[in-house]
Amino acid sequence: MITIIRDARGEIRYFVLASKEAGYIISLHKGRILSHYHFGAAFTPCAAGPVPLAPPQGFGVAEERGDTSYSLHRLAQEYPWGLGGDFRSPAFAAETPRGAPCMELAYRRHRITRSWPDLDGLPLPDPESGEEVETLELDLEDPVTGLSVTLLYTPFPTGGAFLRAARFSNGGTEPLIIRRALSFSLDLPLRGPGLEVLATEGGWARERVLERRPLGRGRLEFGSRRGVSGHGGSPALLLAEAGSGEDSGEVIGATLLYSGDWIMAVERAEDETVRFQGGLHPELFAWHLLPGETFASPAALLAHSTVGLGGISEVFHRAARRLMPASWRDRERPVLLNSWEACYFDYDEKRLLELARGAKELGAELFVLDDGWFGRRDNDCSSLGDWRANPRKIPGGLGTLADKVRALGLGFGLWIEPEAVSPDSDLFRTHPDWALALPGREPAEGRNQFILDLSRPEVAAFIENAVRSVLAEAKPDYVKWDMNRPFSRSGGVSMQGELRHRYLLALYGILRRITRDHPETLFEGCAGGGGRMDFGMIPFFPQFWASDNTDAAFRASIQHASSLLFPPAALGAHISASPNHQTGRHASLASRALCAFGGSLGLELDPERMSKEDQRKTREFVERYKARRALIQFGKQRRLLSPYEGGDAAFASVAQDRSRAFAVWLRLRALPNPAPVALRIPGLEDRAVYRVSTQDIGGFQPFEATGSELSSRGILFAPPLGEDPAAASFDIERLSA
Ligand code: DGJ
Repeated sequence: MITIIRDARGEIRYFVLASKEAGYIISLHKGRILSHYHFGAAFTPCAAGPVPLAPPQGFGVAEERGDTSYSLHRLAQEYPWGLGGDFRSPAFAAETPRGAPCMELAYRRHRITRSWPDLDGLPLPDPESGEEVETLELDLEDPVTGLSVTLLYTPFPTGGAFLRAARFSNGGTEPLIIRRALSFSLDLPLRGPGLEVLATEGGWARERVLERRPLGRGRLEFGSRRGVSGHGGSPALLLAEAGSGEDSGEVIGATLLYSGDWIMAVERAEDETVRFQGGLHPELFAWHLLPGETFASPAALLAHSTVGLGGISEVFHRAARRLMPASWRDRERPVLLNSWEACYFDYDEKRLLELARGAKELGAELFVLDDGWFGRRDNDCSSLGDWRANPRKIPGGLGTLADKVRALGLGFGLWIEPEAVSPDSDLFRTHPDWALALPGREPAEGRNQFILDLSRPEVAAFIENAVRSVLAEAKPDYVKWDMNRPFSRSGGVSMQGELRHRYLLALYGILRRITRDHPETLFEGCAGGGGRMDFGMIPFFPQFWASDNTDAAFRASIQHASSLLFPPAALGAHISASPNHQTGRHASLASRALCAFGGSLGLELDPERMSKEDQRKTREFVERYKARRALIQFGKQRRLLSPYEGGDAAFASVAQDRSRAFAVWLRLRALPNPAPVALRIPGLEDRAVYRVSTQDIGGFQPFEATGSELSSRGILFAPPLGEDPAAASFDIERLSA
């Protein structure tokens, strides 16, 4: 809901936005200056509310001659500009070709529309879902250069969150160059006990290492200059009231609906205010805006919760579900078996069909043919771009293979990496200039491949057609869309300052058209594991391959950090072989399986290399998963124990109607003579009685307890011994209300 509050003279005082329990309020000062008023729990301010308290102090600057009521440095702003008396980082920077800066943005007018904002094809929720949305548009103008910036705010219909973006228009007579165009900037008071910053960093197979640190003075910046959002994590940052837990404390968070270079920054200023910003990474970006043209920033999703990290995750999970394509938002994901770790590039049709038969035996519902099926690809050195099945491996072609797999009672899935080209490929030999490179320089190889320059329409058209013909031939039920290298030697100089963003605009266009035309196909996003797992991709990829690292001892922390933003249905999680292919570690089957119960289950196994006993147990785990699939994938997922804070990880799914829950516990560091574990299950009905049982701990006596007992005393159990990692799961069923 959006309301406008005026003072006794009819002048606008506040723009008030509410997204269920969360509120966002902007005040207008002197009819021209937008000042940030509040982001937190929703309320309606009084028309005669306080005037911003911001007189210049000491060395401060009064922005307007003769008015010492405010200095920009002390004013909480909505979209700060540089070169004035505000010495914190600006939200944007633009200039004329002669170097005259755009600045002094002043409020001019506003509109409220009944639609999502128009962001030139950047990711947004699918508008066809029919719910009512409103967008507040605030026009700001620089009187000298003619730049206008429209700030866009949409209360997110799933609650607790707001979309923010900025649209730049050149209303002047000279071209403008935009050098910085952040999606949001928030000036917040440093309340209560101070703030802690939660951010992730990482790399391939060690994605999303979570760090929590107190917010000290100065500026702390995170980001990616890799052209993709990166293995370090999504473009996101959380700010939590110091000491916040899973169920307590105020938390705000932001993430971008964007998949390329990004920054998120937080700056604690001298007057103890906090500037929180995020958007396109400005370093390799420069956009030329001719008179009459517009440019839209990616959308940011700003989320708020008063009930801790669990609360903010719930806000993000609801928003992520809303962002998914409608056909997959509420649809259970199939259990799949992926061929990658079973046979890598080394297979023929006979081997694939044996694997598919084995997959069926283990209870899988879909067989995925991963890398290696096209061109002459027998290793990762060739053939990307030559998207025709290799007749030696798949003599009848993809359609025939898919039919044979379907005849086994399985769905058919296929891997593809359409954005890449191998130097050793017919495509590259024909179009060597299609690879991304700086003018006059050779491209550099990453995983023996180049990236295709999607900013060129003919290259984008080739990719779209190539994918369409593969889909037409194989009619897959599932597609794994991979992307296996970061950008290099591209962007960063003014002549290529638009390239990476144009690449993404083209990619989003291709993905939008293809996924709309194939609503029944489940597209899973992958970039060497979780290298491009962000809210910008969710409208096309309702599921991601979170990491190539399936070693439960590490995977648990990847899933823990991922779950801050992503709901379990969006995370592919596979049971893989022991010893693990990435770490060499031996792990119990129970830990590998139950860890994978934290997302959408898959298998990365070769049944032929498994003992009969492991096959039987795996089949049992798959059936157990299926019996709880709706609960696991669409229940409220709660983190119970953090692998960052001790040797154990635990998580639970609580049914939306609180009638049941399912909890998983993993002991990642073995302990001799272990003490009993208490696993507290939040989110149940306080007074309802639940029955607690487990299939994983011999001698455990099922018992009954109320919801409040389970959330305070918890489930007390003696950890099972003899398997490393030890693991157990618990079913919690409501008996009475
Ligand atoms: C990287 C992915 O993360 C793997 O699962 C696999 O698909 C390989 N690419 C194939 O090249």
